[in-house]
Amino acid sequence: MQEKDIPTAWYNIVADMKNKPRPMLNPATKQPIKEEDLYPLFSKGVAQQEMNTTDAWIEIPEEVREQYKIWRPTPLVRARGLEKLLDTPAHIYFKNESVSPVGSHKLNSAIAQAYYAKQEGTTNITTETGAGQWGAALSYAAKAFGLELAVYMVKVSYQQKPYRRSIMQTFGAQVIASPSMSTKAGRKILTDHPNYMGSLGTAISEAVELAMQTPNCKYTLGSVLNHVMLHQTVIGLEAEKQMEMAGEYPDVVIGCFGGGSNFSGITYPFLRHKLTEGRDIRVIAAEPASCPKLTRGQFQYDFGDEAGYTPLIPMFTLGHNFAPANIHAGGLRYHGAGSIVSQLLEDKLMEAVDIQQLDTFKAATMFARAEGIIPAPESSHAIAAAIREAEQAKLEGKERVILFNLSGHGLIDMAAYDQYFSGDLRNYEVTDEEVANNLKDLEKII
Ligand SMILES: Cc1ncc(COP(=O)(O)O)c(C=O)c1O
Repeated sequence: MQEKDIPTAWYNIVADMKNKPRPMLNPATKQPIKEEDLYPLFSKGVAQQEMNTTDAWIEIPEEVREQYKIWRPTPLVRARGLEKLLDTPAHIYFKNESVSPVGSHKLNSAIAQAYYAKQEGTTNITTETGAGQWGAALSYAAKAFGLELAVYMVKVSYQQKPYRRSIMQTFGAQVIASPSMSTKAGRKILTDHPNYMGSLGTAISEAVELAMQTPNCKYTLGSVLNHVMLHQTVIGLEAEKQMEMAGEYPDVVIGCFGGGSNFSGITYPFLRHKLTEGRDIRVIAAEPASCPKLTRGQFQYDFGDEAGYTPLIPMFTLGHNFAPANIHAGGLRYHGAGSIVSQLLEDKLMEAVDIQQLDTFKAATMFARAEGIIPAPESSHAIAAAIREAEQAKLEGKERVILFNLSGHGLIDMAAYDQYFSGDLRNYEVTDEEVANNLKDLEKII
């Protein structure tokens, strides 16, 4: 694959869905949000994409493609080492998004969001970040398009992954540990829970609040919303062509799951064949057992953030005030799933599995030793799910073509690996009672 093979349009799966995702609602009026309602917070370019339910293909601006050329197309790799290690009849492929300059898929949307913000004369942007991958990507993109960026980084990751903070600062971003005393949302949660180590939901509230109070400033989000999923489809569109070049078609496509962006990116172009041609293909989202919104959450309207600043989003959720355990896959510690994914799951067009932290590190270590790439703790959830599928193929004595997305490398996550090797990592269980208690509060919203 060459530069010319980088897609020229993103794929908007909503246009092909029979059951469209339910609309986002204004929390005050409970009426559907209109495109203009999003303008104070988001740039118009992404607001349009967010609400587009009719165009299956949306052209990628030339300036964005120019940036993509720095690292795209990304490699599609047959994991022969892993196949051999597992002694499986399955063929395992992975799309390697870790080769981007910042080490993850997040740059695919960061570049697009920075471009649209710049295009309408915005000077400042804000965002949140979990493990720091999205923040690092947006810092790079903000620099590329000459924007000032403030990042609220979840406190536990700020401490666990100090070098991601350094990466953001290297690109010129301002990084604040969340919850912080710099916003009303942060002050409230710190007053109620002084030792709270933060969550993506809280960091989103802080970033939204700052954007609303700063002139000429827009908010950007690294996952969950439809336009972010859209930008990530370059992953699956390239993979579709590359699988064709390899003379194979996947039986199953797997992505790890935080808010859904890399999962959507790798799977939607393949799901398109299921939606439009009835092709038989399974797609699987792999989430942490400690934050199981897809496997144990409830499908209903909820806020995208902790303080309740965002519109109400139809989502599989654990409740916007769910406080996930401090697992190392910081990018997967989010209470809900985007509205498209939630509808696809409700309609049984996709599956979800949950994985324990220790299983993800075991899978990551196997993968690193077999393939020579150290995966991010988030991506390791997809690897663990792929290994399960390959082991099942072996049990059944059947060939199976498995494709997963390697969303990022783990070279800045070595402290987590150290803890794993010294036996200091553990699994976290969420009890049914905790899930039910958290969801009880949601009944008050709608
Ligand atoms: C490497 C990596 N993979 C996956 C994710 C999860 O996000 P999403 O579900 O939006 O792909 C993150 C989030 O920070 C990440 O850093």
